Amino acid sequence: MAQSKGKEDILRAIREAPLLSPNTSLLLQKTSEPDHDLQDVIRIVKFDSVLTARLLRIVNSAAFSTVHPITSVDRAVAYLGEKMVVGAALADSVSRLFLKPLSGYEGGRGELWRHDLFTALAAREIVRTSRSALSADLAFTGGLLHDIGKAILSDFLHDTSRVAVAGIENGELVDYLAAEQESAGLTHAEVGHELAKHWKLPASLQEVILHHHHPGQAGESVRALVYAVHLGDIVAMMAGCGTGSDTMQYHLDVGYERYFDLTPDALALVLVAVQEEFVKAEEAFALA
Ligand SMILES: [Fe+2]
Ligand SMILES: [Fe+2]
Repeated sequence: MAQSKGKEDILRAIREAPLLSPNTSLLLQKTSEPDHDLQDVIRIVKFDSVLTARLLRIVNSAAFSTVHPITSVDRAVAYLGEKMVVGAALADSVSRLFLKPLSGYEGGRGELWRHDLFTALAAREIVRTSRSALSADLAFTGGLLHDIGKAILSDFLHDTSRVAVAGIENGELVDYLAAEQESAGLTHAEVGHELAKHWKLPASLQEVILHHHHPGQAGESVRALVYAVHLGDIVAMMAGCGTGSDTMQYHLDVGYERYFDLTPDALALVLVAVQEEFVKAEEAFALA
């Protein structure tokens, strides 16, 4: 009874969550279409003066150290690439959620953003080993959004950290999702999925968010994408970029071997490859 009341409160919190800006929604929609090109992205940015200013600031920041200052949208977008544009739009649009301290997970301010950013970069790197055509930029966006449900669910988890860690240790709970389910009646994947529907995100991103801990349950057409984010998530946690008490309290789904030419050792190499890019990206976004 208490739990269903909690569930209603969570669903209300999702409905009251900040919305994405219209241009961010448009960018996410456009960039999830397989046949889009950079011109589509540039056209959207040009209509958004806040995003334009932000991108020019990023491209001329110390993190990129270009020889000559870049002053046009076309050149900024071409230089930064689609992933940085989408990242900047998302970060600006819902920074309040990304930066929120995850008290329910004993996570501090900015930890969710750092974890999501690391996951995004790792997922993008993992796509390089894909056995079939897969969008690296979409994997990046999926990585940024995969755990967004935690920003909402965190407020509804009370004493979950202690119960979860003890329960997983003594085998009563299979993973942290089971602990969330028991405490709040919903997992962060489900809460994120509800938020994704509220934001009207493209279907592929909705599936990434819902299934990122169990990619085998995603539809076949998006399964490889979901696996890329699943692996990116594990790599981020291995790198020490978790979100608090749930770090490494999930299972690795080895079904990824069908989609990626990747050994467990190679996953550790992804971590090393991403580390440097992560420092640069974090500095460029300057969000936390
Ligand atoms: Fe997660
Ligand atoms: Fe995660």
